[in-house]
Amino acid sequence: MAESNEVRFENVDKVFPLDGDYLEVLDTINLNIKSGEFISIVGNSGCGKSTLLKMLVGLDSPTKGKIIVGDRVVSEPRADVGMVFQEARLFPWLSIEKNISFGIANNVAKENRQRIVKEAIELVGLHGFEKAYPAQLSGGMQQRASIARALVGEPEVLLLDEPFGALDAFTRITMQNEVLKIWEKEKRTMILVTHDIDEAIFLSDRIVILSERPGNIKEIINVDLPRPRDRSRQEFLNIRKKILTSFIGNTGLDVEYYI
Ligand SMILES: Nc1ncnc2c1ncn2[C@@H]1O[C@H](COP(=O)(O)OP(=O)(O)O)[C@@H](O)[C@H]1O
Ligand SMILES: [Mg+2]
Repeated sequence: MAESNEVRFENVDKVFPLDGDYLEVLDTINLNIKSGEFISIVGNSGCGKSTLLKMLVGLDSPTKGKIIVGDRVVSEPRADVGMVFQEARLFPWLSIEKNISFGIANNVAKENRQRIVKEAIELVGLHGFEKAYPAQLSGGMQQRASIARALVGEPEVLLLDEPFGALDAFTRITMQNEVLKIWEKEKRTMILVTHDIDEAIFLSDRIVILSERPGNIKEIINVDLPRPRDRSRQEFLNIRKKILTSFIGNTGLDVEYYI
């Protein structure tokens, strides 16, 4: 029997209508993600990464094939799959605590809501900023708040679509450490789309490399290194080389040049 929140893509194709024609975006995606796994998805811009996550969260649907979480086919947004986007998408007119509270299911009692928000604020390191408004926070802090808002919904599977793409290099590294801690503590399945190869290696159990559009799975790379990972260790660099080689393929470019 499948574990309760295993994610399965079965022969998933996605085609968008475009200008009276069709744009094939994803081609025959087959992928099983185990409960509690940390997966990263990397690929060129426009190869369908965001589309893949949107279909998994139920904001869009496959043209062919199906996506299954646990024992249910995804057909609409649902509480057990949460998503964090590149922009924090907070409500500017609500305080941080109210923004986070917004992610809690409606049927949770008021007294519990306060406790849940408090715990989430501690978890993402925003203590002291409960009453602040989004515009009063840095980009990294806003992104922490949006991660907290997704976590209080208690999703079994958390999707992160280039969540740190707009942050500076130092804040990114801090956020990667935070996400790692949260993943280790909460043991939720996490699926991260990123264009940062080191970020993918630092965090993931497996890295899924997509081809250019229409995206299909070119290669899956296992990252079998103890955490927290040292970005300068030879094994880390070897995996980076492997990923770059997969990207560059037979383009004639020299991988050594990029390392
Ligand atoms: N709703 C849509 N309608 C038509 N085309 C779309 C839609 N969403 C995405 N696309 C197209 O699908 C392709 C893949 O988009 P996306 O999944 O956002 O790529 P990625 O996240 O890998 O950069 C792009 O060419 C984009 O223009
Ligand atoms: Mg995208």
